[in-house]
Amino acid sequence: MTQLNRRQMLSQGAALIGTAASGLLVPQHALAQSGKIRVGFMLPYTGTFAQLGVAIENGVRMAINEQGGKLGGREIEWFKVDDESEPAKAIENANKLVQRDKVDVLIGTVHSGVQMGIHRVARESGVLNLIPNAGVHIATRAQCAPNVFRTSFTNSQPTMALGEAMVKRGHKKAVWISWKYAAGDEAYEGFKESYTKAGGTIIKELGLPFPNVEFQALLTEIAALKPDAVACFFAGGGAAKFMKDYAAAGLKDKIPLYGSGFLTEGVIDAAGPAAEGVLTTLHYGDGIETKRNNEFRLAYAKTFKMQPDVYAVQGYDTGLLLIQGANAVKGDLSKKGELYKAMEGATIDSPRGKWSMSKSHNPVQDMYLRQVVGKENKVIGVAAKALADSGAGCRL
Ligand code: PHB
Repeated sequence: MTQLNRRQMLSQGAALIGTAASGLLVPQHALAQSGKIRVGFMLPYTGTFAQLGVAIENGVRMAINEQGGKLGGREIEWFKVDDESEPAKAIENANKLVQRDKVDVLIGTVHSGVQMGIHRVARESGVLNLIPNAGVHIATRAQCAPNVFRTSFTNSQPTMALGEAMVKRGHKKAVWISWKYAAGDEAYEGFKESYTKAGGTIIKELGLPFPNVEFQALLTEIAALKPDAVACFFAGGGAAKFMKDYAAAGLKDKIPLYGSGFLTEGVIDAAGPAAEGVLTTLHYGDGIETKRNNEFRLAYAKTFKMQPDVYAVQGYDTGLLLIQGANAVKGDLSKKGELYKAMEGATIDSPRGKWSMSKSHNPVQDMYLRQVVGKENKVIGVAAKALADSGAGCRL
């Protein structure tokens, strides 16, 4: 046997073993081109982020339904797992979709800690993972991966635009407060950099474990510290509770409240008057006055009988990205090289404004300064143009 033949035999043997191990009796490439594309949602459907998961799923489905409900000409079979925003169950939950359901695409998730579990499974299995929210830095920095694309933000992107906006409004001494986990810590990183660079001083960093909402002692501390302003990261149900408690503690009219814009997304009704006037920075705002955004908002409200928010937009953009990728390979997602290339080169015509994918697979996007007026996150300015995450340490 020649050297070449021997090598060929070995590699064919390995391919056969691989096929048998994955439980498939037909070659994988044949399966990939026929039948339905298997799309799995791993999102929070319970807990403080439950409404975020629902909005993301709505957005994805809306984008795909607008294009006839197919991907690259193929029908879709949907799968769903509730990740409960529980990092300890993340790997097991991701494997339900990847190993049990054999999804072609895993869409998830919201919580940065849970994302780390998904990330491990995505890197080990090679499954296509689209991140529709979680901003954990490492996923598009040192551990970036060819099969992982984010359609949302990195945790420090919104707060990188926040510091300067606060100093410009004359608030030179601030207290920071957030949940102590990757998202809060990394949002703080962005805030610290932008606020101190603009000449502000952070007099105290306060925190509590996710998803606790016992804010009372910390609010008492803020009152005693008497900063010019407070900046924070909270989201979902916890964010509504924070704004209500802030107002109830008598701080609302004394110390202006700022935040990364998740603070006021999807919770303006729940927070009521406590949200009025709150200023935030984010890559979306209800009041973006473009035809694209107005049409999106109308269609979403009509279909789902609720107002869209940033999470719905991120889900929608995830759908748009997947459509662009699937169309480029005519539904054959096994053509990974071509699929990734199409997604890397995609420009997404989003309700937030057009954005492109950075080299490390994260959106390059504008950040808006918004203020809650009535039931809306009104856009009052652009806080940063075409803001890209550093992508530090990413080699693709
Ligand atoms: C995160 O955990 O990365 C996270 C969660 C909710 C948000 C934003 C970021 O609104």
